[in-house]
Amino acid sequence: MSASRVAAQIDDPDSVLAAIETRFACRAFDRNRPIDREVVEDILRVASRSASGTNTQPWKVYVLQGQPRDDLVAEVLAADDAVSDDPNLVAAYRDDPDFYPSEWVSPYIDRKRQNGWSLYGLLGIARGEKEKMRVQRQRNYHFFDAPVGLMFTMDRVMGRGSFLDYGMFMQNIMLLARAHGLHTCPQAAWNYYGKVILPFLDAGPDETLVCGMALGYADQQMIVNTLQTPREPLEVFTRWVESSGERIVTGHQFGERP
Ligand SMILES: Cc1cc2nc3c(=O)[nH]c(=O)nc-3n(C[C@H](O)[C@H](O)[C@H](O)COP(=O)(O)O)c2cc1C
Repeated sequence: MSASRVAAQIDDPDSVLAAIETRFACRAFDRNRPIDREVVEDILRVASRSASGTNTQPWKVYVLQGQPRDDLVAEVLAADDAVSDDPNLVAAYRDDPDFYPSEWVSPYIDRKRQNGWSLYGLLGIARGEKEKMRVQRQRNYHFFDAPVGLMFTMDRVMGRGSFLDYGMFMQNIMLLARAHGLHTCPQAAWNYYGKVILPFLDAGPDETLVCGMALGYADQQMIVNTLQTPREPLEVFTRWVESSGERIVTGHQFGERP
């Protein structure tokens, strides 16, 4: 470890905070503002400073822009249209089915619903307006008009810990994007089409699709980008472990407010 890192002070701690607080899931990008290759490379290079268990660095990143990006968008949209016509096709396109739980439970199902209805409410989409929902959902498969799409894969042999590593790597990408004036949207939506995407990328048979991500300059006019997502207060997800005589007490239950 170099001495300079140990002794280093962050000159502007607020910039770290600002990167975290100004990141949000951007769902409308300026399609006419491309990103220089050097900027994408710089983001990925620095992001790779992420911690990973035993320094395994499980990430494999495919960068799509220009024609390959548009071709992938077209292929996945065609597959998604086919699924809309025949929902039985879902299994035919999906590579790894367990990104989300097969059975949702509280409080996660409640937060998921709240998130969906906030988004649709902002966009003026009412319950039952299935076609409008489908169109909004398909915005995912346009990378929300971002000029750069990232696809993240990992070797199938890796374990659960590597997904943890991957999350840190992706978060670093999202924060570094802020340093360049860029925004991002991590997108699990692509995971429904792993069997289209992996062959398109010429990924090896050992690779599985982890996630996608849109990267670009935010469209500042679009109302969708004003969505503010709530967070549970600290007390709801934190328990302080304290000793009380012989016993260890951890206070209130998770999910409760003390
Ligand atoms: C792993 C992951 C996958 C996600 N997939 C999608 C997606 O497919 N489409 C989408 O619109 N948002 C997606 N999101 C964004 C979340 O909905 C968003 O992060 C969450 O609602 C919190 O909002 P915020 O990011 O604006 O703070 C994803 C986020 C993560 C971390």
